[in-house]
Amino acid sequence: MKILVTGGLGYIGAHTVVELQAAGYEVIIVDNLSNTRIAVLDKIEQISGIRPQYSNFDLADRNACFDFFKNTKNIEGIIHFAAYKAVGESVQKPIMYYHNNIGSLINIMENMELHNIPNLVFSSSCTVYGQPDELPVTEQAPRKPAMSPYGNTKQIAEDIIRDTIYSSKLKSIALRYFNPVGAHETALIGELPLGVPNNLMPFITQTASGIRQQLSVFGEDYNTPDGTAIRDYIHVVDLAKAHVIAVKRMIEKTGKLDFEIFNLGTGNGFSVLEVIKSFEKVSEKKLNYKIVDRREGDIEKVWANTDFANMELGWKAEKSLDEMTLSSWNYQLELDKNN
Ligand code: UFG
Repeated sequence: MKILVTGGLGYIGAHTVVELQAAGYEVIIVDNLSNTRIAVLDKIEQISGIRPQYSNFDLADRNACFDFFKNTKNIEGIIHFAAYKAVGESVQKPIMYYHNNIGSLINIMENMELHNIPNLVFSSSCTVYGQPDELPVTEQAPRKPAMSPYGNTKQIAEDIIRDTIYSSKLKSIALRYFNPVGAHETALIGELPLGVPNNLMPFITQTASGIRQQLSVFGEDYNTPDGTAIRDYIHVVDLAKAHVIAVKRMIEKTGKLDFEIFNLGTGNGFSVLEVIKSFEKVSEKKLNYKIVDRREGDIEKVWANTDFANMELGWKAEKSLDEMTLSSWNYQLELDKNN
């Protein structure tokens, strides 16, 4: 069973590759290294003992994409992670975001039709809900106007998939991630963005290890118990496992609809200060942070209703916040050892 994983050397992609290999799938990775390093391929091999087939090209490059699919036979399913994901950058460079995130999806779906590859797992995001009216948020909650071009690419992508499936034999599962954090238990793969991190967890671990001077906590005047914003943080390995289940569901045709959407979160919300406290506890380090103004575009609070994913996928996130912060820290320590 060959599964194509686009963005398979990225953060969530690499963890999913390892879980797919453990479940017996043959993995082909396409990644243009726009936000990761080739060394991740070696780490995957170190963990699983299997070196996946790997191609480096830009999926938004139409000719390259068509050539790849022409020359790669017997793909059973595609997990499409490859996309840009920095909210702030997308506001500055919208065309780059639309070109990459939408262009690559269109190229992939055209080739799925052309080569009869029926199954697509798509990386969507809880960003499509904006600030939900009701919490925890279910898959039925209305999507809100996107706060950024990045968020808009996720909404548009879901629409493109829905429309295409309606008139073709393709099937898809869109997985709406909440906030993925943590790292593999081996500490060989984890979140290592190029440059200054945008997201909370890598900023915390890099501050603790001295790479960044200070963490800014964006806002303490939210309508939450401690005033800082609340998110549903989910361990990346739990998230990766859900992808394996989603692929299997499509291959074995046990899904109920041709297009299904699932929330992937834990169902628990934690504030920024709670995450910091957990980190300080597990790392036994005091974190240098200061409260600053809110970050533009941030929502106040969101956490998932995971009933549908729990019931339909038979999947449940298992790892606690402390396990998330500890594994992130262990990964940072491993990186520091090698630098
Ligand atoms: N935060 C800080 N300081 C930082 C970074 C983040 O206080 O240096 C706070 C944010 O204000 C927010 C929380 O930590 O309250 C989480 O922020 P992240 O940037 O880690 O994550 P976001 O919730 O902003 O964004 C994530 C993904 C997006 C996705 C979005 C959906 O990164 O891709 O969830 O809500 F679109």
